[in-house]
Amino acid sequence: MLNFKEEIAKLIAQQVEGLELAEIQEMIEIPQDSKMGDYAFPCFKLAKTLRKAPPLIAKGIAEAIAEAEMFEKVEQVNAYVNMFISKEAFVKVTMEEVMTKGDDFGKTNIGENKPVIVEYSSPNIAKPFHIGHIRSTVIGNSLYKIYDAMGYDVIRINHLGDYGTQFGKMICAYRHWGNKEDVINEPIKTLLEYYTKFHVEVEEHPELDDEAREIFAKLEKGEPEEVELWQWFRDESLKEFSRVYDMLGISFDSYAGESFYSDKMPRFVNELKEKGLLEESRGAQIVDLEPYGLGAALITKSDGSTLYITRDIAAAVYRKETYNFEKNIYVVASQQNLHFQQWFKILELMGYEWSKDCVHIPFGLVSLAEGTMSTRHGRVVFLEDVLNKAVEKTKEIIREKNPDATEEYVDEVAKTVGIGAVIFQELSNNRIKDYVFNWDKVLNFDGETGPYVQYTHARCASVLRKAGDDVVAKAKALENIDYKHLTSESAYDLAKMLYKFPAVVLDAGEKYEPSIVTRHIVDMAQGFNRFYHDEHILTDNEDEKVAKVALVLAAKEAIKNGLALLGMGAPERM
Ligand code: ARG
Repeated sequence: MLNFKEEIAKLIAQQVEGLELAEIQEMIEIPQDSKMGDYAFPCFKLAKTLRKAPPLIAKGIAEAIAEAEMFEKVEQVNAYVNMFISKEAFVKVTMEEVMTKGDDFGKTNIGENKPVIVEYSSPNIAKPFHIGHIRSTVIGNSLYKIYDAMGYDVIRINHLGDYGTQFGKMICAYRHWGNKEDVINEPIKTLLEYYTKFHVEVEEHPELDDEAREIFAKLEKGEPEEVELWQWFRDESLKEFSRVYDMLGISFDSYAGESFYSDKMPRFVNELKEKGLLEESRGAQIVDLEPYGLGAALITKSDGSTLYITRDIAAAVYRKETYNFEKNIYVVASQQNLHFQQWFKILELMGYEWSKDCVHIPFGLVSLAEGTMSTRHGRVVFLEDVLNKAVEKTKEIIREKNPDATEEYVDEVAKTVGIGAVIFQELSNNRIKDYVFNWDKVLNFDGETGPYVQYTHARCASVLRKAGDDVVAKAKALENIDYKHLTSESAYDLAKMLYKFPAVVLDAGEKYEPSIVTRHIVDMAQGFNRFYHDEHILTDNEDEKVAKVALVLAAKEAIKNGLALLGMGAPERM
């Protein structure tokens, strides 16, 4: 992308001596008020070396660079050189950038293929994959796409919760009240029933807790019977999770979850001991983090079994040794803030300087208008059911809008749009905010929603179909385009939004905030729709038509690339 700041800096560098190009570029400002130009250069700093009053310096520079093609006009106001970029020049570089990059428009290479880990989704085995899991799953997937677009080599990890005392409870419950057939038919629902029943029964029979603990201890020791049951639960659960991942179009490079680290723990317990960080507290081993205001972290229980946090420490070191990550990103709910603060601190105290490269990306709660969920009490809303319902509801809407559409067409579009709607809604809010899942909002075709944006994309496609292959080919090649046809307010505004897109992607990556991309996609879609309403695109004037069709092509490309960063498809027809 033509970088105007850089080009301007080059022009100014020819006029002033003693300043580095980079320094000049740093000094160039983007005025708050567009009446002061698109760019401004303050001359205060130059007064000393040039031994002239700043306004005089500004005047000299303004006069010297005014003729450059990229400017519409250049003015000196007090100590500033105010520069107005020519609309035509601006639209031209934007269009050239979009057309040459195509599907890669929006991508950069600041990551230089350095390894970055994004850990996301990470549900617990044998527990429902419920609506709450949508957050880590979808935010994480989008961060993966954004970091990939920034040129990083991203490793996607699903840190499955496939270990821990709850498996003792599950196996215990299965042995008391379980039935193989039921588990095979409906694994998660059945296992959840067992788990729920365990919590009811244990109220009356506290000895069940001891039994469950013993079972887990056996599992940790690798006793075949326990391992076999655990493996079975894990396999069945993964099948169910995979169905949801397939619907969402999400995949992982590694499913190394908690159990993967079960045999790697002694090394860390010893290391903590050797480094003098472990303390005994009522038979358990803890790291005292009180001096840092982080309480105490339980590393091993009195029976010697390890914990969630111990496995996280082991996993982080394993990842550093295996992938040598530049950054290790955890997309996990804000309820676990303390957990992450604790073990990041422990890594630091162990002397791992790369602990600073571990980042917890928290997010708020999603709730349902119908009320809260509780796994223990069996009140859950399965993510798969939500996605299926979204597809079904979308089918109804599509059928209504296109009464003649074939069943096949309705099915396909409803999948892209229905699931896309859920993803888009999820990524619309600032991630840290709690939000309430609301069907009407999700599937509204007119609001700032997924369907609205996808519909805009389909509208672009429809304009291109009407324009015909010849015109589209000319537009794509940007053959003899006269950019004056794209200087109307709505065309120029749209071009400005397209120009910003790559910077928006970087900003979203730096802030770990996919909603920045989502909002910009909405802006681009609205910008396109304004252009579409204000302008006669397929005019009889051939030159004008080609130019305008080129802008439609560019908008379509940018919207599509934006949606891809959220993990969404862009239908050609809707
Ligand atoms: N399985 C955990 C849960 O469902 C989330 C795991 C988060 N990742 C981690 N490395 N601790 O709450």
